[in-house]
Amino acid sequence: MTPADRPREIVLGVSGGIAAYKACEVLRRLREAGNHVQVVATRAALQFIGAATFEALSGNPVHTGVFEDVPDVAHVALGRRADLVVLVPATADLLARMAHGRADDMLTSTLLTARCPVLAVPAMHTEMWEHPATVDNVATLRRRGTVVLEPASGRLTGADSGAGRLPEPPEIAEFARLLLEWGLADSGDAGGMPFPLPRDLEGRRVVVSAGGTAEPLDPVRTLGNRSSGRQGYALARVAAQRGAEVTLVAGTTADLDPPAAVHLRRVQTTREMRDAVIDAAKAADVVVMAAAVSDFRPASLSVGKIKKGDEPPAIPLEFNPDILRELVTEDVPRRLVVGFAAETGDEQGSVLEYGRAKLERKGCDLLVVNAVGAGRAFETEDNEGWLLAADGSSSPLPMGSKAALAARVWDAVAERLP
Ligand code: CTP
Repeated sequence: MTPADRPREIVLGVSGGIAAYKACEVLRRLREAGNHVQVVATRAALQFIGAATFEALSGNPVHTGVFEDVPDVAHVALGRRADLVVLVPATADLLARMAHGRADDMLTSTLLTARCPVLAVPAMHTEMWEHPATVDNVATLRRRGTVVLEPASGRLTGADSGAGRLPEPPEIAEFARLLLEWGLADSGDAGGMPFPLPRDLEGRRVVVSAGGTAEPLDPVRTLGNRSSGRQGYALARVAAQRGAEVTLVAGTTADLDPPAAVHLRRVQTTREMRDAVIDAAKAADVVVMAAAVSDFRPASLSVGKIKKGDEPPAIPLEFNPDILRELVTEDVPRRLVVGFAAETGDEQGSVLEYGRAKLERKGCDLLVVNAVGAGRAFETEDNEGWLLAADGSSSPLPMGSKAALAARVWDAVAERLP
């Protein structure tokens, strides 16, 4: 087994908040991805979820106090062995204890011995998240390199709602995978990948379009495409966690959880997507068109359902607006515009040559070229391609998760922002 193939060792730290029940789902996902998971729970966490649940799901005993497994010096062994620590939920109290370097239970002691990436996923009431003490603690932890995710907004425990909700388990698992990929690169097991979640988009407004568009033919039929929206969602998710204020304009997509800390606008047709993107772009620093936009629409919408008849109907089409072109030609202060192109090569040219021609034709600043066909790019979890820039430079985007590709795209964007 090569080092890259060995199962990763993850410490799942659970602190005492109601969102501890979602740690069970995160644990299941981390294990399904082939990782070894060791749960370290605070005493308060065990008031919410019994140790037996974590032990059954992880296949390992749960650690809580420093006076357990004393001969093995468990807090040092766990911290040293870990490839990643994930904290679900990270309560205000845990963040405070971490910021002060406390070592008053197994979890905080383990955190002091761990030298791997740490992903803290906060969940608390809005007042606690916005309290200056918590704000300072989060800033301190981020400065030291802990990845503290932005919480989602929405329904909290009880009747209140606001910022402070735990991001959904699939999103947490995606960031865990991203940090593991990075840790792997850092340890020399895979090519040098930069840290994927710096706070370099803080104060920036970005717009991301995702998914496909669907053009109605009649009351029951649409003309659409197979885009799942996963790449656009990953771009929005990563940008939000790098500090950007994100508007995600989503057309037709698979059944995806909305990313935490993102304004989501749902649209269906290309013209609706155009209006939403152009409107949000007015105040944006960056627009990323990851959507698979339908170039045509039926010239007319049939009021009644089109009947079968003896011959298949001929459906006249007309052009839709080209949103990307409008963004680059619009008479507004210049912003960075990123396009996507799904290409296949043929005898006339390679995927890369088609990509370069499209970059010139579209006039955007950056173009992500995905090689499609044979099960690649569409409806898959992974993606690969090239990143082409208007200055003529290009860099390969190696096969990896859509979040990893998103991180590369934001690296290139952040480099070019004034
Ligand atoms: N795009 C857009 N509006 C359209 C069509 C495409 O904004 N009506 C954007 C896509 O979101 C993507 C980029 O343009 O970022 C390239 O999309 P693609 O479908 O490859 O471009 P087309 O202009 O349709 O090129 P082709 O001639 O290959 O169909």
